[in-house]
Amino acid sequence: MKFFADTAEIAEIRELAETGLLDGVTTNPTLVHKSGRDFIETIREIAAICPGPVSAEVVALDHDGMMREADILRAIAPNITIKVPLTSAGLKACRALTDGGTMVNVTLCFSAAQALIAAKAGATFISPFVGRHDDVGFNGMDLIADIRMIYDNYDFATQILVASVRHPMHVVEAAKLGADVMTAPPKIIHQLYKHPLTDNGIASFLKDWEATGQKIG
Ligand code: E4P
Repeated sequence: MKFFADTAEIAEIRELAETGLLDGVTTNPTLVHKSGRDFIETIREIAAICPGPVSAEVVALDHDGMMREADILRAIAPNITIKVPLTSAGLKACRALTDGGTMVNVTLCFSAAQALIAAKAGATFISPFVGRHDDVGFNGMDLIADIRMIYDNYDFATQILVASVRHPMHVVEAAKLGADVMTAPPKIIHQLYKHPLTDNGIASFLKDWEATGQKIG
């Protein structure tokens, strides 16, 4: 499973990149707003830090506007992935961009039918939002299972990018279902390796080691 960081904060991305755990980055207009920084400049910096796919979202709602914005964004770096919404115009832009050799992330997916049509439009990634799905009383993971089954039935190459991840169990459940990628805020990626029994074990081993009076080297 690939790990993408869902953030526009350069320091967080740099820290994760240094761990070797970072396979890509996703951003959206809300995350850019939170960063308080210039969009194009931020995407350029992220793409230089992370060699994997970096999603930059268009904000136009019509096909021509999306294509104009995509042209500006994809010129930033070869690893830019254009993020388009799951609408008719977004799907049309997805097909045009994919045919032109650009990676596309189709975002705001909330149904298996939407995921099926995004795959037919040639999406590189489909982004089902599991957390927001849970928020309105559906089980986001059921959606991931359905999409996995559909994509496997037809050998679609579109990668399932689990988004709107809210806690480590979302990551574990998505991995069990065979999702290709998950994107999460860096805080959640760091939570994945934390366990109180690991901390307790380290503390007791260190205490016993000190009692031996030895040193390594
Ligand atoms: C994914 O690409 C989105 O940026 C993101 O996962 C949305 O998450 P949220 O529902 O926590 O805003």
